[in-house]
Amino acid sequence: MSPLLLLVLGLLLPLLLLVLRGRTRREDEPPLIKGWIPFIGKALEFGKDAHKFLKEHKRKFGDVFTVQIAGKYMTFIMDPLLYPNIIKQGRQLDFDEFSNRVASFAFGYPPVTSKFPGLKEQITRGFILLQGDNLTPLTESMMGNLMLVFRQDYLDQESSWKTAYMHKFCNSIMFEATFLTMYGKPPSASRHSGMSVLETDFIKFDKMFPLLVAQIPIWLLGRTRAIRERLINYFLPHQMSCWSHSSEFIRTRFEMFEQYDTLRDFDKAAHHFAILWASLGNTVPAIFWVTYYLVSHPEALQFVRQELEDVLRLSGVEFSRDKDVTLTPAHLEKLLYMESAIEESLRLCSASMNIRVAQEDFSLRLDAERSAAVRKGDIIALYPQAIHLDPEIYEDPQTFRFDRYMQNGQKKTNFYKRGQKLKHYLMPFGSGASKCPGRFFAINEIKQFLSVILLYLDLELEEGQSKATLDLSRAGLGVMLPAEDVRFRYRLRPV
Ligand code: HEM
Repeated sequence: MSPLLLLVLGLLLPLLLLVLRGRTRREDEPPLIKGWIPFIGKALEFGKDAHKFLKEHKRKFGDVFTVQIAGKYMTFIMDPLLYPNIIKQGRQLDFDEFSNRVASFAFGYPPVTSKFPGLKEQITRGFILLQGDNLTPLTESMMGNLMLVFRQDYLDQESSWKTAYMHKFCNSIMFEATFLTMYGKPPSASRHSGMSVLETDFIKFDKMFPLLVAQIPIWLLGRTRAIRERLINYFLPHQMSCWSHSSEFIRTRFEMFEQYDTLRDFDKAAHHFAILWASLGNTVPAIFWVTYYLVSHPEALQFVRQELEDVLRLSGVEFSRDKDVTLTPAHLEKLLYMESAIEESLRLCSASMNIRVAQEDFSLRLDAERSAAVRKGDIIALYPQAIHLDPEIYEDPQTFRFDRYMQNGQKKTNFYKRGQKLKHYLMPFGSGASKCPGRFFAINEIKQFLSVILLYLDLELEEGQSKATLDLSRAGLGVMLPAEDVRFRYRLRPV
């Protein structure tokens, strides 16, 4: 080997080792946990069971610590009493850049940058169309579509028991009802043809979603690119423009994308596909879990069904299984025990990590006395599942109690940690600037789905199955799927 090459290697090697070893903790920084594998750090342990990992590290290192995960330094804030301060610190902590990068990678559209002036702002402004007064037409449209799909596919006049898989059942109804509500109907038909192919592709894409979020190149993921392309192609503008009765939300986005010549039709379609995922990816598993918990707790199911029947009776709605039931937003608002059962299910099955990226080196204020130094590019992470399963906040946290969020017939909002009332005790929808804009619609549609199945059907679990467990591959990303689907039987309720 030439002396020059030796010299270069001699100079580079310590640098390479330094890069691989990563950083060392500075004064005022939280404890630093790197693991022994350079760059990868603790990614494998964290990915296997994030909740267990964080619980153990909290015991060893306290409420605030930094972990090296796949080349990133993530500072976890584990004390929920510190959450309000973190959520408030908007200026130095950014959400957009990170989520924009991840979403464009996963859904296949170009990052929303200054190349598309004003697009980011318009997209954000458009989220209002999922809320407030706009929630009423959206909810009414969902009611009609839910009944349409449910009646045609699942309600016949026979009252014998039928067997089905529960997640598949929830998905097949919600997939099409959501599609119709958001994107509308085809010309001269009430349902789109080819929905089951689209649904199958969607499920395949959804399985790969955690890997795409982890930025694994799509060409390494088998047929995922082709599947994603097929899904995106469904939303090409010339096709969408033939659909009627689409939501105001999607119509506005459609017109907004048309203003940008720099967006190809495929890119616009990819944005629409991203919304399909956003509106189903968490909602369907959430619907599965609340249905599963209610069916496996018959006394809770009966209570929630009774509340529903009382609300309808008191509003003068006469239910008959031969007629389509209509639940207005005003009815849905009164279903407090049902809402509690939904929230309790979300407590048990959701694990969405709230992520912010430090825009500069600065001192992160934790509370009146404490702060922690963070560096530009570091990720600050809240992991609300730690609150959801904290026995100090929720007694017997692994148990489903349908009325956990009720107190004296009213919604219960007082939960405590170290004797102090918590502002954030249930966070399935994220927090602050990145909070889910579809959260009110999501709760409404879950209530509508439950109302329909509780009014029309008797439901029972098939015997001889073990309890449903969570598929942890989605931990950190939202509502987790069941590791295995669950068999149940249903029949039309006698009148
Ligand atoms: C149980 C159901 C749902 C859950 C648990 C849920 C949860 C979440 C969470 C945690 C985020 C924030 C992600 C982050 O912080 O990185 C989010 C974002 C989002 N959600 Fe939901 N969501 C649900 C249903 C829906 C529905 C039904 C819609 C639309 C119809 C929707 C539309 C969106 C959109 C558009 C965003 C991105 C917002 C942005 O870019 O700022 N979600 N959701």
